[in-house]
Amino acid sequence: MNSRKPDYPIDSKFTDRWSPRAFSAEEISDETLLTGFEAARWAPSASNSQPWRFLYARRGSPAWELFNSFMVEANRVWATKAAALIIILSKKDFKSGDKVVFSETHSFDTGSAWISFALEMRKLGWFTHGMAGISHAKIKSEFQLTDNFTVEAMVAVGKLGDKKSLPEHLQTREEPNTRKPVKSFVSDGKFPIEWLKTE
Ligand SMILES: Cc1cc2nc3c(=O)[nH]c(=O)nc-3n(C[C@H](O)[C@H](O)[C@H](O)COP(=O)(O)O)c2cc1C
Repeated sequence: MNSRKPDYPIDSKFTDRWSPRAFSAEEISDETLLTGFEAARWAPSASNSQPWRFLYARRGSPAWELFNSFMVEANRVWATKAAALIIILSKKDFKSGDKVVFSETHSFDTGSAWISFALEMRKLGWFTHGMAGISHAKIKSEFQLTDNFTVEAMVAVGKLGDKKSLPEHLQTREEPNTRKPVKSFVSDGKFPIEWLKTE
């Protein structure tokens, strides 16, 4: 439960998911992460191509320091206390019959998988925080990714911690934020001229 108020009545799982930066010291098991990835597994995708790929490191595991090195400092300062770090990739091509075809929707489909993961983790008592502030070049080079992969984002996973553990400038931001009203991004049949403005 938190202060978020939806415009229309929805399941509270949507408003209960938010992205904290203060994580507790609690460790996460492979089993718990795999349960989250199981939820991701059932996401829809064009031609059922399932382009999502997740690389993960649990805190203290051999890959942990390497995964930390992929984040910009502004993210590393808080995300290094997470229980796990995940790199989300998408594969741009897939096999259709005996042809390799390009997926126009690899990122869209992988976004569906990520939110399924995030909602399932929240249900299990864990929080997730997406990060675009990462070095795509470092990730590509470290894992020798070919051009048919996109680095989408990284995600920190952990149990909620004390916000006093954060640097001061982040403590004031450590609460669920809100959203634009539904009617500002939905239109019945016509493209609203206001959408041309960038806000
Ligand atoms: C793809 C993606 C990239 C993000 N990148 C960052 C980031 O680099 N650093 C950060 O602190 N938060 C990042 N965020 C968190 C967003 O700011 C946050 O999701 C947004 O403000 C909505 O808040 P909520 O997730 O708490 O509902 C990212 C979120 C997503 C989905």
